[in-house]
Amino acid sequence: MTTTTHHRLEELFTARARTMQPLLYPSSPDNGDMISLAYGLADPALFPADDLVSATDAALRDDIDGALNYSPVDGELVEQIVTRLRSEGVEAEANNILIGYGSGQILGLLPELLVEPGDTVIIEGPSFMGAVRRFAIAGARLVTVPVDGQGLDVAALEETLRGLAREGVRPRFIYTIPTFHNPTGATLTLERRKRLVSLAAEYGVLVVEDDAYGDLRFSGQPLPHLAALDDSGWVMRVSTFSKTLAPGVRVGWAYARREIIERLAMLKLEGESGPFITRLVAKYCADGRLERHIAALTSHYRHKCNVMLEAIQREFPADVQVQAPEGGFFVWCRLPEGMSASALLPVAERHGVAFLPGTRCFANGSGDDALRLAFSYQPADKISAGIRRLGAAMRELGEAV
Ligand SMILES: Cc1ncc(COP(=O)(O)O)c(C=O)c1O
Repeated sequence: MTTTTHHRLEELFTARARTMQPLLYPSSPDNGDMISLAYGLADPALFPADDLVSATDAALRDDIDGALNYSPVDGELVEQIVTRLRSEGVEAEANNILIGYGSGQILGLLPELLVEPGDTVIIEGPSFMGAVRRFAIAGARLVTVPVDGQGLDVAALEETLRGLAREGVRPRFIYTIPTFHNPTGATLTLERRKRLVSLAAEYGVLVVEDDAYGDLRFSGQPLPHLAALDDSGWVMRVSTFSKTLAPGVRVGWAYARREIIERLAMLKLEGESGPFITRLVAKYCADGRLERHIAALTSHYRHKCNVMLEAIQREFPADVQVQAPEGGFFVWCRLPEGMSASALLPVAERHGVAFLPGTRCFANGSGDDALRLAFSYQPADKISAGIRRLGAAMRELGEAV
């Protein structure tokens, strides 16, 4: 009976829904003695609880009808984002901004706006699969361009765009994470940024700049956002309060030309994003609290990143290659020749540590020679202990190979 219902129900699903795989969330990053370095969760020790309580109080006292009734999105938050973009050299207006339930919601809506099944979307390899999976479900033909230590390989991108143009294919968009890339930590150089923006205009392809980690810089000089280098409207920027304030507030935003923002807003069937939470975030961000909090976060994450890098230096075989990130949540490791990340994972788990295998960050099956480690969530002592365990697992696997 249940099997019949199951089959009868499946027949109702769209082809897209039938191909969907369940998302693997970290059920508990602290699973017994297991130290998970797999996922980029925020550090709960740094959630600004008292300030959020007083921002909640202010949001409710200021305008309880606006905060708790069916109300339009908060103009104050949009204005704060516009002011910030303008200070970065982007000529934004309120109608260039869309607030979403996290940037993930906006990234997930992009294919609704831009992708018919079979259309080409250019992604980075590796990339943030949370977004890429949504492009794939929409039926996009994904074309992967490599990322190296300086970010997206823009020469390879140019080659790809030229090849596609020869076939008469105009990609719908290029999805890129130029600053503190997830998963490699790499930051796109200024020269490459300029080239990327001019290629977008030359080929008439939208660049979607995902700036989830851009505020968390702990070394090096800030670089202009792609949108600040673009004067022809081919850059869309997607950002979030998840990495600076808290993922649980579910507030992200996008900046793009009005034509894009208007249509994305229409696709958000639930309408404006929560009036209560957007007002609360606006109250929190007023008076420079967010900037002060980001400064504290940055020094905290810098310390934990250094703890991880020093432990890697001590504990990993010398031929594991690592590039120190200038910000963000992740360290990307290339394994010694012949060592497979998927073979390493069960050994590591036996040693009491988990990581994200590189294959989970590619849409084309590559990446078994690499893994991603997050230093964001675990406290410093667990980061050191986790890296020690992982080093032991690598040596055990290395001896067995
Ligand atoms: C690169 C990148 N973009 C977007 C997101 C989604 O963030 P949110 O939906 O919480 O704003 C994440 C989350 O991990 C991410 O790593």
